[in-house]
Amino acid sequence: MRSEILTILHKAKGGYVSGADLAEKLAVSRTAIWKHICALKDEGYQIESKSRSGYRIVDSPDLLNPGEIKAKIKTEILGQKIIYYKEIGSTNNEAKLQAAKGAREGTIVVSEQQGTGRGRLSRGWYSPAQKGIWFSLILRPGFLPQEAPKCTLMAAVAIAKAIFTITGIEVGIKWPNDILYNGKKLVGVLTEMNAEMDRINYIVIGMGINVNVSNKEMPEEIKDIATSLSEIKGETVSRIDLLTQVLAELENLYLLIKEQGFAPILKLWKQYSVTLGQDIKVIGVNETFYGKAVDIDDFGALLVDTGEKIERVLAGDVSI
Ligand code: BTN
Repeated sequence: MRSEILTILHKAKGGYVSGADLAEKLAVSRTAIWKHICALKDEGYQIESKSRSGYRIVDSPDLLNPGEIKAKIKTEILGQKIIYYKEIGSTNNEAKLQAAKGAREGTIVVSEQQGTGRGRLSRGWYSPAQKGIWFSLILRPGFLPQEAPKCTLMAAVAIAKAIFTITGIEVGIKWPNDILYNGKKLVGVLTEMNAEMDRINYIVIGMGINVNVSNKEMPEEIKDIATSLSEIKGETVSRIDLLTQVLAELENLYLLIKEQGFAPILKLWKQYSVTLGQDIKVIGVNETFYGKAVDIDDFGALLVDTGEKIERVLAGDVSI
């Protein structure tokens, strides 16, 4: 109910909405509306009430709750269902539970903070309250399981595009899906799936975007290798504008894959790549080796020329 009230008030763009209108639209009493308005004020919303005019939003706290997202969302599939937490262990874990219970395609799980945020290769992910965008998206694509990496590459491209639109910052993608700025990590993507031999039941794409995390507050182990958009720009960046733009870009690319296949995404990914053409170290699942990153194939695997042969790397980490 609160998120619906917020959506209506935001859509009025600072104008008044009468208590009677709200009550009618939401099929509840005016007293119920008033109680929800009081609760929203307790959450930090500045809402002005004026007799005969109604309510208007003067200022909103920086939250990624459903009311804020719905007021700005530009998509038709992704983010239409929002599961929101002030704090949770990991949005990926929750999204997997929701997906297993049948959550529809496009559902997102968003949290202001993660206590046990997870990264790739069993690492952790630092996710302080209201400083970043920590969210997971549930997709049910008609792909084969071996095509799942396509979703990860798609997510990295979508985020890179959205970051440029909202901040003007040009980022690079390190295979498979780290978003870097000047060699420092800005965004991580963790894709997990549940599949049969010949079909994917669901894919969860977890995205962690360091938006307003200050370098000073980062834990020692990531201080020198991570950065954030606010550190780069020297000013706070709107999390809600970036999240809704990421969803818009993801939806565009996802529909593009369904219409035209993976080729256009692969082309875009290559434009953002900071890995291709570089001499790299590959830390694979079973071995470590060196070579030149020459291409990625149609499944998103990295092709590395070791001097003796072309190795096809499907999972692991690379350092440039
Ligand atoms: C990486 O190691 O680069 C991937 C990091 C992914 C972090 C995001 S934050 C939201 C989602 N929930 C998690 O527990 N992890 C992902």
